[in-house]
Amino acid sequence: MKVERKQSVVLVPFLLQGHLTPMLQLGSILHSQGFSVIVAHTEYNSPNYSNHPEFIFHSMDDGLKGIDMSFPSVKSIYRMNESCKAPLRNYLVRMMEQEQEQEEDVQGDQLTCIIYDNNMFFVDDVATQLRLPSIVLHTFSAACMNSMVTILQQPEKYFPLEDSQLLDPLPELHPLRFKDVPIPAFNNTVAEHILDFFRAMSDTGSSVATIWNTMQDLESSMLLRLQERYKVPFFPIGPLHKMAPLASSTSILEEDNSCIEWLNRQAPNSVLYVSLGSLVRIDNKELIETAWGLANSDQPFLWVIRPGSVSGFQCAEALPDGFEKMVRERGRIVKWAPQKQVLAHPAVAGFFTHCGWNSTLESICEQVPMICRPFLADQLVNARYLSQIYKVGFELEVMERTVIEKTIRKLMLSEEGKDVKKRVVDMKQNIVAAMQIDGTSHKNLNNLVDFISALPS
Ligand code: UDX
Repeated sequence: MKVERKQSVVLVPFLLQGHLTPMLQLGSILHSQGFSVIVAHTEYNSPNYSNHPEFIFHSMDDGLKGIDMSFPSVKSIYRMNESCKAPLRNYLVRMMEQEQEQEEDVQGDQLTCIIYDNNMFFVDDVATQLRLPSIVLHTFSAACMNSMVTILQQPEKYFPLEDSQLLDPLPELHPLRFKDVPIPAFNNTVAEHILDFFRAMSDTGSSVATIWNTMQDLESSMLLRLQERYKVPFFPIGPLHKMAPLASSTSILEEDNSCIEWLNRQAPNSVLYVSLGSLVRIDNKELIETAWGLANSDQPFLWVIRPGSVSGFQCAEALPDGFEKMVRERGRIVKWAPQKQVLAHPAVAGFFTHCGWNSTLESICEQVPMICRPFLADQLVNARYLSQIYKVGFELEVMERTVIEKTIRKLMLSEEGKDVKKRVVDMKQNIVAAMQIDGTSHKNLNNLVDFISALPS
């Protein structure tokens, strides 16, 4: 009896939390659509296999032993790209050989395509050599990607950054200013190897399509602009965390669930959630200013202080004297929170965020308005869009206690804060509409499934 073979897709995520999460969510979506899913990942930040029994995992020697990747350098990312080439190629060759050996009437999966994070650009070479179709997953917003490719076309227009120009607008990249340019500069200049890295990760190579963790309705003009450039089919199927059928945790750090019990004891719509994501590091002064800003605002708060996120300190030992008492009275500090659950909790009224794209989408989907304090890269663009275009958050330009206190009060207590809340409720409704049967994300997902199914094998 001939048994129908399943199509399998190989996913290659990038090792940072903010990238691993959307790739695993995409895997859950594709699995629910009938594909078998193989995740080929780096040894560093290996996903927790037991949270995803539906996937097959393959670990690749990433060449990163002994290298501190808590804030990866461009050099280490290139090294990892180089090191993973042979392991991935060998693994895929073995799979393809096994497929050929299989009798026609034996059930076995059929390798259909590779889907890779745009930071894992080595995959393009491997896929081309093996004549396998590849698809790129973009985990940034389309607005961010559009600003990056625009800057890369004429970097001399943006660098060196002049201190006197930092607040000047960039009309071609409205609402960005010079200081919001998402390609990092050191001492106001950008090195050629940094530009090359951004070129590599914004190049789709020979990929046959791109997938986006965004919504077509939200970012239609940016997506159109990018599509004119890339000239391959686009599949904006976000928000991936809501499109994914399984809510299994994708956290690398252990989540402290006790904060949910603490939230259960707080009044509805009263708590400010504070988290700066998985990568940002602040200095001691910024920590102290934040602590006093929170204390003086008089609002209950749940604050994530990730180990290693305060330069020179392991954890929260850098907090000012006297702050501990205040935390006992109306706050809670954890090392890592179950963020999606926190944002969905009725006690949470606002989110003090670094504006990583996952956090941004998670906040909007739970209709939580934001205080936007970006630090680098895409966060700068997201913060401008949130505060200036979507108007669902207030931008915090400086980490200074009186400014922080004022901004928290504005978000949680003022009329302006109520308007921001109304807009984020509307925004959430639009996202819900995109996910419904006739909505754009839903339709795009069906189109993506048809597209992958029809790929030549
Ligand atoms: C960052 C940068 O924004 C981006 O430039 C880079 O490419 C990847 O790293 P990150 O700090 O990871 O992103 O932020 P974000 O995209 O928001 O992702 C963080 C994820 O961690 C979210 O899914 C969030 O829910 C989760 N998280 C965060 C927790 O589960 N618990 C926490 O306590 C904090």
